[in-house]
Amino acid sequence: ATGLLADTLGRPLRDLRISVTDRCNFRCSYCMPKEVFDKDYQYLPHASLLSFEEITRIARQFLAHGVRKIRLTGGEPLLRKNLEILVAQLAALRTADGEPPELTLTTNGSLLARKAKALKEAGLQRVTVSLDGLDDAVFRRMNDVDFPVGQVLEGIDAARAAGLGPVKVNMVVKRGTNDHEILPMARRFKGTGVVLRFIEYMDVGATNGWRMDEVLPSAEVRQRISAELPLVALDAAAPGETAERWAYADGSGEVGLISSVTQAFCGDCNRARLSTEGKFYLCLFASNGYDLRALVRGGAGDDELASAIGHIWQGRADRYSELRGTLPADAGTGQRRVEMSYIGG
Ligand code: GTP
Ligand code: 5AD
Ligand code: SF4
Ligand code: SF4
Repeated sequence: ATGLLADTLGRPLRDLRISVTDRCNFRCSYCMPKEVFDKDYQYLPHASLLSFEEITRIARQFLAHGVRKIRLTGGEPLLRKNLEILVAQLAALRTADGEPPELTLTTNGSLLARKAKALKEAGLQRVTVSLDGLDDAVFRRMNDVDFPVGQVLEGIDAARAAGLGPVKVNMVVKRGTNDHEILPMARRFKGTGVVLRFIEYMDVGATNGWRMDEVLPSAEVRQRISAELPLVALDAAAPGETAERWAYADGSGEVGLISSVTQAFCGDCNRARLSTEGKFYLCLFASNGYDLRALVRGGAGDDELASAIGHIWQGRADRYSELRGTLPADAGTGQRRVEMSYIGG
């Protein structure tokens, strides 16, 4: 059945995003606002987390169904102890075609300088670092824990030195908060080999107080950059990619635009998500996931696990970003959407 699996909209399963912790040392207001994620916030107890063995076992069945790329996320994935052991276990798995999976990680970069080398040695191929501005004061305000930008830049350098490339940098743009950092960021990474991507601020979760007027549409980001640094359109890298790619006309690299709000990319979305406690989510904006941990801990065999994953994917009809605006915030289900820190970006 490998490779033939498709959901109700004909979309294959190619990308698995695994959240390894619901904790983070930052408090970005668009993701884990301090007022909600305060000192009394109840994070998942350790026993709820999938073990590395459980993650690896579940990932193996996803690979059998056609997954080719695995991304580790959080929360902040580098807060999970001994993460390089999980990386090594996942790197040893094979896709249905017998290839090693593409293995990557999205991090806030705060611990990267310390961990880049070990991650590379364990088999991690790439990293994507979130960075919302270069100005130290703006950055400290956005992470809301007074974390200095210099240490994230050191993390990016360490990742490049370790060969974890091409490194991508993600900047979430909030109008009125950090949109004046768009050009400094573009200038800084142009010509370095780092691929900078601008992300439209999204209405994920239920706590970030999202408002449309704080979204700066990608078209405007592109106009602002190309007024100073001309851009030309590139072809999409692969079907289902999140980013639209634009090259600098002078050949000094490229930027990406991730436009989930103004130009939804659900049409060929091939991404599955596994939460920290082992729930299988079919969409970033879903309210509910399917409990694979219960199967695993209940003694299900590999065949049973694989067949459950296949059936769940086959029933998938999710396309939230395309329907945004036509639905109430609870997508009509009366339930709250999961938080990004829980499901992983
Ligand atoms: P690459 O393979 O390196 O290009 O990574 P990626 O773009 O798949 O992943 P990354 O973690 O860098 O995500 C970039 C941004 O896109 C983040 O803000 C994600 O939350 C967002 N994103 C990723 N996947 C989806 C998705 O399926 N739907 C929506 N709406 N946003 C997504
Ligand atoms: N809108 C857009 N991007 C977000 N991220 C986290 N929350 C949001 C949001 N509300 C980004 C992070 C990281 C990626 C995985 O998701 O900054 O780069
Ligand atoms: Fe942490 Fe990333 Fe969320 Fe910021 S966006 S709070 S760094 S998980
Ligand atoms: Fe995929 Fe859901 Fe994102 Fe659409 S909104 S691209 S279906 S994860």
